[in-house]
Amino acid sequence: MIELLPEAMVGKGLHRECYIHPNNPNRCIKVVVNRGVEETKREQAYYRLLQKRDIDWDMLPQFYGVEATTLGPGATFDLVRDHDGEVGHTFEYYFDSIALSEQYYQGLLQALQELKSYLFSQNIITMSIKPKNIIYQKVDIHSGKAIIIDNIGNSDVIPICTYNRFFGQKKINRKWQKFRALLKRDYVNNPAVQRLVEQL
Ligand SMILES: Nc1ncnc2c1ncn2[C@@H]1O[C@H](COP(=O)(O)OP(=O)(O)O)[C@@H](O)[C@H]1O
Ligand SMILES: [Mg+2]
Repeated sequence: MIELLPEAMVGKGLHRECYIHPNNPNRCIKVVVNRGVEETKREQAYYRLLQKRDIDWDMLPQFYGVEATTLGPGATFDLVRDHDGEVGHTFEYYFDSIALSEQYYQGLLQALQELKSYLFSQNIITMSIKPKNIIYQKVDIHSGKAIIIDNIGNSDVIPICTYNRFFGQKKINRKWQKFRALLKRDYVNNPAVQRLVEQL
């Protein structure tokens, strides 16, 4: 059984805690702490589908399966690290600071533009897209990649968008426009984010 210690925690969302995997510094392990079992099942089912489709994992951590931990079943994924080895920070972290948003403006913008084309080209369906669920992985001091770490998949009763590319693209576009609207609204006091959204 894998022992998860408090000092290994790298982040916490509404449902899950995320820990550095004790046996592999480049993987993380996520345990449900608060009513997230349904979401986790949906996520894993969607991951299996993407694995079968043999997609390109450029902007999505790979999923390696579930292992028993001291905090219950843990789902193992790639851990996103920056070029200097630090665990990557979310877009929320960068956008919460005007200084950081300005400093990394080009990299943040380009990473999100590339994420957008990635989602369309691989037909990856998401629930709502939020800055706290995307990590900006610094590749060097000027540039980086946007990695989606949460809320992928489809909760529709009849998930036609998952299987049909035409409907999939329409859904991805709706989700992306909602993401833009959310950034505009939530970062009304951050001029860098306001400029950035216009180019997405
Ligand atoms: N693959 C990852 N690499 C680095 N940090 C991560 C990764 N996955 C999650 N995190 C961190 O853990 C936090 C919670 O994970 P998340 O999957 O979003 O949980 P929840 O489902 O509860 O929202 C994230 O906001 C992020 O800070
Ligand atoms: Mg989350």
